[in-house]
Amino acid sequence: MIIKKHVGLRGTIRIPGDKSISHRAVMFGSIANGTTEITNFLQGADCLATIDCFRNMGVEIENSPKKILVHGKGLHGLSSPTSILDTKNSGTTTRLISGILLGQNFETTLSGDSSLNTRPMGRIITPLSLMGGKIKSIYNNDCAPLRISPSALHGIHYHSKVASAQVKSAILLAGLYADEVTSVTEPILSRNHTELMLQGFGAKLNSFLHTNTSFPTVSIEPEPKLEGQRIIVPGDISSAAYFIAAGLLVPNSEILIENVGINPTRAGILTVCQNMGGDITFLNKKTVSGEPVADLLVKTSHLHGIVIEGSIIPTLIDEIPIIAILAAFADGTTTIRNAEELKVKETNRIETVCKNLKEMNGDVIPTEDGMIITGKGYLSGAKIDSFLDHRIAMAFSIAGLVADGETEIKDSHCIDISYPTFFETLTSLFL
Ligand code: S3P
Repeated sequence: MIIKKHVGLRGTIRIPGDKSISHRAVMFGSIANGTTEITNFLQGADCLATIDCFRNMGVEIENSPKKILVHGKGLHGLSSPTSILDTKNSGTTTRLISGILLGQNFETTLSGDSSLNTRPMGRIITPLSLMGGKIKSIYNNDCAPLRISPSALHGIHYHSKVASAQVKSAILLAGLYADEVTSVTEPILSRNHTELMLQGFGAKLNSFLHTNTSFPTVSIEPEPKLEGQRIIVPGDISSAAYFIAAGLLVPNSEILIENVGINPTRAGILTVCQNMGGDITFLNKKTVSGEPVADLLVKTSHLHGIVIEGSIIPTLIDEIPIIAILAAFADGTTTIRNAEELKVKETNRIETVCKNLKEMNGDVIPTEDGMIITGKGYLSGAKIDSFLDHRIAMAFSIAGLVADGETEIKDSHCIDISYPTFFETLTSLFL
């Protein structure tokens, strides 16, 4: 894909459904009783991988453009798949489904693509094994492929070192099948879509601060009666982030982005943009399927560098590639700290962001847990490798809109993972 410098992005856009919420709606619908109807489901490759896994375990899932119907099999009703479960590029599918599979009465093997099969799975293997789960890294390298066997699960209290919604959710889902209450404490509250949605399906969860540490904790009771739900998926703030950045950076722009999920455990990008001087107005705030949603009006703004660290990091971890582009155009220095989790995403995003920013003549220094970017007010067009990481492809496409000359994004098709219609939406804003 070739991107050229542009002036004036204008229009109203709607953002496809949230990836994290779409995955969960299919998973919870599959293990509920009755039918779950999902609208605004994200038709991205990651979420389609989740659908395929559950179809492979006997769940009838109707996927039409307007809605998805998941005909749930109940907590114990999945059937043995005919082949290994292919989780493709999706960490969310792999980690969350593991918790569910441990409660089934058949053995499964989970495997993904070459990126997925190098991502750390020890972070779920450890707590799930403590629960009595039989989950094994087949090559003993703490990565997928994973073999998961029927297990008698015990409720535990787990203190996670990382603020990871995937780890938390895997444990909570295994907790559905345990013999007593299971709880998870994390250092900072990670995205809480599992808690909100599972409660809607009828599970009994309790969120509180741990008495000794005051860290966020959530507990779940086993063997609930889950009932199929109607879920309306909000627009994905992680996808909206590219258009928020485009609206702020491209001169003479005004973009109305409708229907964006603004759950506080996800909305760190909005705080960061406003702290950098970004002009963003929230309109039409409401709650949809238990999740807060708003329309965002974004106008071209003069940005300045800031420090991004601590408890805000889990709320914007997927948005750091696009924040780095904002920083390259802001006055002064932006320092990102405490973001070592970037190293274990679809690519090592400290490396891939810094390498590409340097290709475009940006001033960036990678650090152990983030990066330091000094805004120069310009970038030069360049040949950019997406490294097959959807968020790198989209972040650097936006950089291409404001860089001098022409920018070419290699393997831009990887945007299909989370935003297949990204380029159509982008060109709809061109004057
Ligand atoms: C996700 C959680 C986050 C996020 C990922 C989706 C989820 O990962 O980066 O894109 O849906 O639970 P971690 O749990 O590894 O932080």
